[in-house]
Amino acid sequence: MSVHPEIEKRKTFAIISHPDAGKTTLTEKFLLFGGAINTAGAVKRNKANQNTTSDFMEIEKQRGISVATSVMGFEYKGKRINILDTPGHKDFAEDTYRTLSAVDSVILVVDSVKGVEEQTEKLMEVCRMRNTPVIIFINKMDREGKDAFDLLDELETKLTISVCPQSWPIGQGHTFKGVYNIYGNQLNLFESDKSKVTEPVIQVKDLHDPLLSEYLASKHLDKLKGDLELTEGIYGPLDKEMYQEGLLAPVFFGSAINNFGIRELLDTFIDIAPSPASREAEQRMVYAEEKNFTGFVFKIHANLDPKHRDRIAFLRICSGKFERNKFYINTRLSKKLKFSNPMDFMANDKTLVEEAWPGDVVGLYDSGNFKIGDTLTEGEELQFKGIPSFSPEIFKEVENRDPLKSKQLEKGIQQLTEEGVAQLFVQQPGNRKIIGAVGALQFEVISFRLEHEYGAKCAFRPLSFSRSSWITAKDKKTLQEIMQRRSSHIGFDKDGNPVFLADNDWAINLAKRDFPDVEFHTTSEFK
Ligand code: G4P
Repeated sequence: MSVHPEIEKRKTFAIISHPDAGKTTLTEKFLLFGGAINTAGAVKRNKANQNTTSDFMEIEKQRGISVATSVMGFEYKGKRINILDTPGHKDFAEDTYRTLSAVDSVILVVDSVKGVEEQTEKLMEVCRMRNTPVIIFINKMDREGKDAFDLLDELETKLTISVCPQSWPIGQGHTFKGVYNIYGNQLNLFESDKSKVTEPVIQVKDLHDPLLSEYLASKHLDKLKGDLELTEGIYGPLDKEMYQEGLLAPVFFGSAINNFGIRELLDTFIDIAPSPASREAEQRMVYAEEKNFTGFVFKIHANLDPKHRDRIAFLRICSGKFERNKFYINTRLSKKLKFSNPMDFMANDKTLVEEAWPGDVVGLYDSGNFKIGDTLTEGEELQFKGIPSFSPEIFKEVENRDPLKSKQLEKGIQQLTEEGVAQLFVQQPGNRKIIGAVGALQFEVISFRLEHEYGAKCAFRPLSFSRSSWITAKDKKTLQEIMQRRSSHIGFDKDGNPVFLADNDWAINLAKRDFPDVEFHTTSEFK
């Protein structure tokens, strides 16, 4: 099957990083380069203050910003680039993990001073689960950071991925002179200037080009030659296939705030990053170039106006062509749905979309028909894989504080957890509701929204659980046995699957020993 040009031109990816490494700045510079925005500062910092957990206005503001910037599309050198935004705050990490299910590749930003941080490792783990191709951008080279070779070592050991530098820094911090672009054989000279979009680029034949000594003092040039000789020996040339299989990460150095190193990153990205290809469904592999439309919902966003309960569901198109006003089937409900106002996102603008292609993300107004992970097709029974739930870290039981509003509470909890704000586990007997979250902010968001959108009041009773493990067994009886004997540790997730709730890893290991025929899974999706 030949690839349709509309599919081939699409590059759908996310920029991810530990908070403060420079994700927002890099996103903004990409939009500047793509001509999608004109001024720096147009992309708002999409993050709540890292230090406060109770600034509701901040949370609300963030919700507003993140609808506007959920997808940022623009055209660059004949390609359609779709950047999917991910929340900066670590408490919303689950949202990021889900968004990663909808991209074809990622750019990971690492701070040259701090190196690999906690969130960098977690995000990389999620990329590895799906073999997502990763390009690494080492940012803040204008600061006195770690040595380039040490950084590459750190990336390889902490992120368990092979790396291959595609640009190389000349100096660092106050002696930073620029980078040598290995991929394109260019010398890019550094000027600390936040307003300029382009940097001076000197095209050379190779490292022996005499032009280089006109721009670099001999001590810098000698060091550069020595470094590159070493890197060539250690890392070799870029193997694009290995990159596309998620086994090798090309690495670039630069300074996002100074617009430096961005152009070669973006140009290499459009050159090597994969276009939409195939996606695994429970039933079969689905290929982008198939004629029939398929897609899945990876994110649901509540309307900012609490009086209107409708939400926006973000649909990633996987195959065929999506068309406005055509009937599609939500396969979970076997329900026919038609969308008269699907939205396309170009930078900060929303426009009505008539048709969309694999790799695109469209926003669909939803009055409660969607759950995260739902698949839409033209009729085929399909369910896309790849949106697993991960174990939360904090578990609290929901207590109703207004008995007259128990229905509202029930509905609110149901809808908010369907939206993916946090995970819901139900314990029997008694229908006890346990909310599992990664961070304290999620509980704040739930109580705030329950009160303001549903008129319900609740309190959260802390529980000692800190892990959830999805359990399966070949024999039904074995599963029933653990569910009976450990009933106080069993909850059921949103799909009714049994989950073992434990205080710590030790408790899980104990249960594994006591029930050797039960399989314990760290995510909700397993083969
Ligand atoms: P994030 O989205 O990953 O959380 O990071 P963000 O882009 O918000 O950047 C975090 C901080 O790092 C910002 O400073 C930003 O200006 C700075 N930064 C980004 N790129 C570079 C760089 O190349 N060099 C240097 N030296 N700093 C960089 P801030 O003080 O937190 O915010 P602001 O006042 O600058 O907006």
